Amino acid sequence: MKGIVLAGGSGTRLHPITQAVSKQLLPVYDKPMIYYPLSVLMLAGIREILIISTPTDLPNFRRLLGDGGQWGLEFGYAEQPSPNGLAEAFVIGADFVGDQDVALVLGDNIFYGQGFGGRLRQEVSALDGCTLFGYPVRDPQRYGVGEVDGTGRLVAIEEKPARPRSNKAITGLYFYDRQVVDIARSLRPSTRGELEITDVNRAYLEQDRARLVDLGRGFAWLDTGTHDSLLEAAQFVQVLEHRTGIRIACVEEVALQMGYITADECHALGSKLAKSGYGEYVMNVAAAAGATG
Ligand code: DAU
Repeated sequence: MKGIVLAGGSGTRLHPITQAVSKQLLPVYDKPMIYYPLSVLMLAGIREILIISTPTDLPNFRRLLGDGGQWGLEFGYAEQPSPNGLAEAFVIGADFVGDQDVALVLGDNIFYGQGFGGRLRQEVSALDGCTLFGYPVRDPQRYGVGEVDGTGRLVAIEEKPARPRSNKAITGLYFYDRQVVDIARSLRPSTRGELEITDVNRAYLEQDRARLVDLGRGFAWLDTGTHDSLLEAAQFVQVLEHRTGIRIACVEEVALQMGYITADECHALGSKLAKSGYGEYVMNVAAAAGATG
């Protein structure tokens, strides 16, 4: 399976912070926002990843992430000249996707939960059509919303409904088979002028090939869309990391755990960041895994 991180948009809800900096490069406590969705793809076992952003911001993503080789990954980069909708990722990334399955993750989505990696890998191998991930929220009218029947089967999806029929938000992580490119290409822009991801999902639902995985209450899916939710996400990460001593979405650690890099390679990455607590952590993780550096 291939992966796409969509990290464009104009971030208007975070102005003036995002007037000169891409939203997905802003810090969420100790690391750039994009590390969180990136680590989700890595945990799913995905190593070929396309990063899509605006022509202005793309050079900064390249500067931060490079070609991915340092983490045992392969990054490609593509421009989205204007925010024409999430589904445009598949039109832009058509050649990259080729005839493979693909995961899309939004560059501003943060996921955290016990056993998430294993669960993701299970869903990757069970994929038949489209797999979505639902999460209960207090304000479902702000999101794509899924409606399930008594057996948990997905029966309807709506984008930002005024009167939501459930509290299950569809999160910004989507798994699709290769058909997604044709579906995205056949979409017409919505009334707000965008190629809507909800319309892609509905096309799979109409074929009875859309599945909603319930992430449930023991899990955290965090928003970063407003000044308050961005700060709250950072505080959540800080509290967990302080309490446990374990960092969330430390890409070097994930790469090591997944066997994408060796302990010595991990140590070398940490030593380049040695002046920060983050770098020290990476070196400690590598040492515990037997690095000799
Ligand atoms: O976060 C999950 C939600 O994401 C889903 O529940 C909704 O169904 C889905 O439509 C989307 O809703 P948002 O209101 O969050 O979409 P927004 O337009 O804010 O875009 C989400 C992120 O993607 C944001 O960081 C900007 C980026 N983006 C957005 C568009 C429209 C792009 O990179 N390119 C785009 O064309």
